[in-house]
Amino acid sequence: MKTIFSGIQPSGTITLGNYIGAMRQFIDLQDEYECFFCIVDQHAITVPQDRLALRQNTKSLAAMYLAIGIDPARSTLFIQSEVPAHAQAGWMLQCVSYIGELERMTQFKDKSEGKDGVSAGLLTYPPLMAADILLYKTDLVPVGEDQKQHLELTRDLADRFNKKFNDIFTIPEVRIPKVGARVMSLQDPSKKMSKSDPNQKSFISMLDDPKQMVKKIKSAVTDSEGIVKYDKENKPGVSNLLSIYSILSGLTIKEIEDQYQGKGYGDFKSGLAEVVVDHIKPIQERYFTLMESKELDEILDNGALKANHIAGKMLKKMENAMGLGRKRK
Ligand code: TYM
Repeated sequence: MKTIFSGIQPSGTITLGNYIGAMRQFIDLQDEYECFFCIVDQHAITVPQDRLALRQNTKSLAAMYLAIGIDPARSTLFIQSEVPAHAQAGWMLQCVSYIGELERMTQFKDKSEGKDGVSAGLLTYPPLMAADILLYKTDLVPVGEDQKQHLELTRDLADRFNKKFNDIFTIPEVRIPKVGARVMSLQDPSKKMSKSDPNQKSFISMLDDPKQMVKKIKSAVTDSEGIVKYDKENKPGVSNLLSIYSILSGLTIKEIEDQYQGKGYGDFKSGLAEVVVDHIKPIQERYFTLMESKELDEILDNGALKANHIAGKMLKKMENAMGLGRKRK
């Protein structure tokens, strides 16, 4: 069985962008792959976090993974900091990374631009992400489009390590969905939908109250044409809403365009709001039950146990390859 690895930062609420771009893909992949899903709390601390909020967000993300349909009987769900091999392997991979290539990462540029006191961790984030992936002999990494550059670097680092030390890493492939790889902000469709956007109206949280979701969709930026038509260049706002509609309803873009022919954006937005609420409401119900249950800790304990076992073996191979410590079998 081939292996999947993916991670999400517990750095705030989970958005519809995270769900559509990444999480939704995970569900079906569980049937065909050995899956590892990680709550990457060590990535989250590359920018300042409130201690209690981080803990709460970590638990909340675990519950959300399960609520959307991750099955702990088939997939391994765990918290990054509970598997120390990630940080250890991350350090080794930092030592085979060049500062120049890390400085070229667009996420680093975006997050550090104009800021004082940028942490060194923000720069060395990609080798830690590479460690996450490479420790599990991952074949495929399902992510949204914004992670593509980090995946390219992961492949480069794996290849560099294999050639320089020992051929131990599988070179992973990236898997980006055809539709929904980049869900855009509801307020500025030239920007991606992001949980760190200070404008709350720009994103839908998976935990928004249904009334809030309807309000946010109704106030989404469109254009003055009044025609429901997919045209990414000229109608980015409407096109973004059409993509969300299509993905969550299972209808094609053409079917939705036909359905709203001759009708205005008001009707279209009401229809979309209904689709979004109908899709997310049952997820929220499962989420709230899970947050109250003891099951969550048990699942995370089992996940950490399994992940530590597998990651530990690859870590030893890495240490042997680089000559760290004493020789071990
Ligand atoms: P993060 O936490 O920012 O996002 C989690 C996942 O959601 C996707 N995503 C989106 N997809 C479509 N439209 C959007 N607006 C949108 N916003 C976010 C992201 O592409 C991602 O797949 N570096 C990663 C976390 C990570 C990781 C890993 C991922 C750490 N180690 C190993 C895969 C494998 C990140 O910051 O994702």
